[in-house]
Amino acid sequence: MVMSRISVNDLTSFKQSKTRFTVLTSYDSLTASLFDDSGIPVLLVGDSAANLVFGYDSTVPITVEEMLPIVKAVARSTKNAMIVADMPFGSYQTSTSTAIESATSFLKAGAQAVKLEGGQRVAETVSHLVEAGIPVMGHIGLTPQSVNVIGGYKVQGRGEQAKALLQDAQTLEKSGAFSIVLEAIPSDLAKQITESVSIPTIGIGAGSDTDGQVMVWQDLVGLTPGPKPKFVKNYLNLREQVERAVKEFSSDVATGKYPDKEHSYE
Ligand code: KIV
Repeated sequence: MVMSRISVNDLTSFKQSKTRFTVLTSYDSLTASLFDDSGIPVLLVGDSAANLVFGYDSTVPITVEEMLPIVKAVARSTKNAMIVADMPFGSYQTSTSTAIESATSFLKAGAQAVKLEGGQRVAETVSHLVEAGIPVMGHIGLTPQSVNVIGGYKVQGRGEQAKALLQDAQTLEKSGAFSIVLEAIPSDLAKQITESVSIPTIGIGAGSDTDGQVMVWQDLVGLTPGPKPKFVKNYLNLREQVERAVKEFSSDVATGKYPDKEHSYE
């Protein structure tokens, strides 16, 4: 039997039926199949791969060429989830044709949609991508690719900025985006945006009134080191557990405790 993946229509239905849904990032085959089997409807191959896979200190340096093999791995390893590929910084800003070319390469790699950052300033690009048959997820609020303009990773949309963000969301909907990520904005504003658009909003640091929630999987399981943003909830302490296991392995090898008979061939 051919399984069909979650589609943009399914996400619209989630919004209409007030069914809250989850989105997780994924950058490799093992987590992709695990999250897919766990019923996560949307997997985002985020440009957060820049930090988490490639070791860059921001999402700015990552390229389409670096993202493509990851998108292929995630797509190959899943059956049900919608795969959304994040458009790297520089892959959609210079011209519409560059944007279509980059997005096309992600769809050919197995993604069903792309995500790009920005509101009104990317509206025309979004329209052209959608016209070209490429579903687009928007991303407003804290847009990490603009860290050099914003001046840091801080909450957006407070005070005067709120109106502009609301307009950004409405413009993205008009341009044909099928959903919008709202990152690091006040909960009240996220609620207002969610109620004012008919496409699903997906929050990350945007409170509990968005239609869906997205989380970086390493944050979810407590693998990411260092201080965590307020919105991150660690459902596990995997970093501690892995560190303990690795140290025990080293010690067992040093003392000759591993491998023992049970783990050796006759
Ligand atoms: O790249 C990413 O992981 C993202 C999410 C945080 C939304 O854009």
